[in-house]
Amino acid sequence: MSLPVILDCDPGHDDVFALWFGAGHPALDLRAVTTVGGNVPLEFTQYNARVALTVAGVLDVPVAAGASGPLERVLQTAEWIHGANGLGGPELPEPEVPLDARSATELMADTLLEASEPVAIVATGPITNVAVLLRDRPDLVGRIREVVWMGGSTERGNATPYAEFNALVDPEALDLVVRSGVPFTMVGLNVTHTALVTTEVRERVVALGSRTGAFGDELFEFFCRTNHEVFGMPEGPLHDPVAVAVLADPGCVRTVRTRLDIELAGTETAGATSVDFDGMLDREANADIAVGLDVPRFWDALELALTRLA
Ligand code: RIB
Ligand code: CA
Repeated sequence: MSLPVILDCDPGHDDVFALWFGAGHPALDLRAVTTVGGNVPLEFTQYNARVALTVAGVLDVPVAAGASGPLERVLQTAEWIHGANGLGGPELPEPEVPLDARSATELMADTLLEASEPVAIVATGPITNVAVLLRDRPDLVGRIREVVWMGGSTERGNATPYAEFNALVDPEALDLVVRSGVPFTMVGLNVTHTALVTTEVRERVVALGSRTGAFGDELFEFFCRTNHEVFGMPEGPLHDPVAVAVLADPGCVRTVRTRLDIELAGTETAGATSVDFDGMLDREANADIAVGLDVPRFWDALELALTRLA
């Protein structure tokens, strides 16, 4: 029996692979896609999500647009990694997936209400949409199996010295979600930086011989180039699909249950994800924190998903 999933994202190159992972893997049943302003403004992220599903031949999953920016702060974007339109590199086909008339919150709510079992939410961008859902529809919390989020870091940041990009964009939303008590897993840079797009990975994707494989390699070409230029990482870290792996093949990702707090007030540290592995603050554990990735198993799981797409 496959696990019902909602994927909230800000495509973005790595978000596309998270979408494909969720749509293609046999252990998952992608019920809905919601989009948020993040890597690039919402007008692009919602379009890019629809393009990604079109390329993969996934035309029956609803896609809605959600928050254009954070709960309180001004949107920060990441064109230097993803390009002006968010999917630099390939020529984008016209999406065959329409934009759903509902908001992200409305689509999430309908999806939760229609499901016969609790639904997992995977978020791979600033977590604003999930925060709005929890804030505005507390009656639905019991229908959420868990939230798995790509973001944060148990070490250094990638947007500021101490903050990972998704956390930095909307730390108030992240704080609200963590405090809500919904089962929460953080998949941070400390783990996603091991999901590197090596030459061997690129060869496996090209060898799929599919439209998805060809488009995916064009995304890799751009993503690896910009990550090399910006971070000196020629093999770009494919962050977002690691969050999907937590649900698709739980044995891929090792987690530790401990205390997570979000820095909101820091002049230099806003968006920092403070993980108290050693219990120094004597606070109750409130999150599962990813601490390790079985890299070969991860790529095998993602490849399996991709083989099932157009
Ligand atoms: O810091 C990496 C995260 O920020 C990824 O989700 C990437 O897509 C960007 O959203
Ligand atoms: Ca993302």
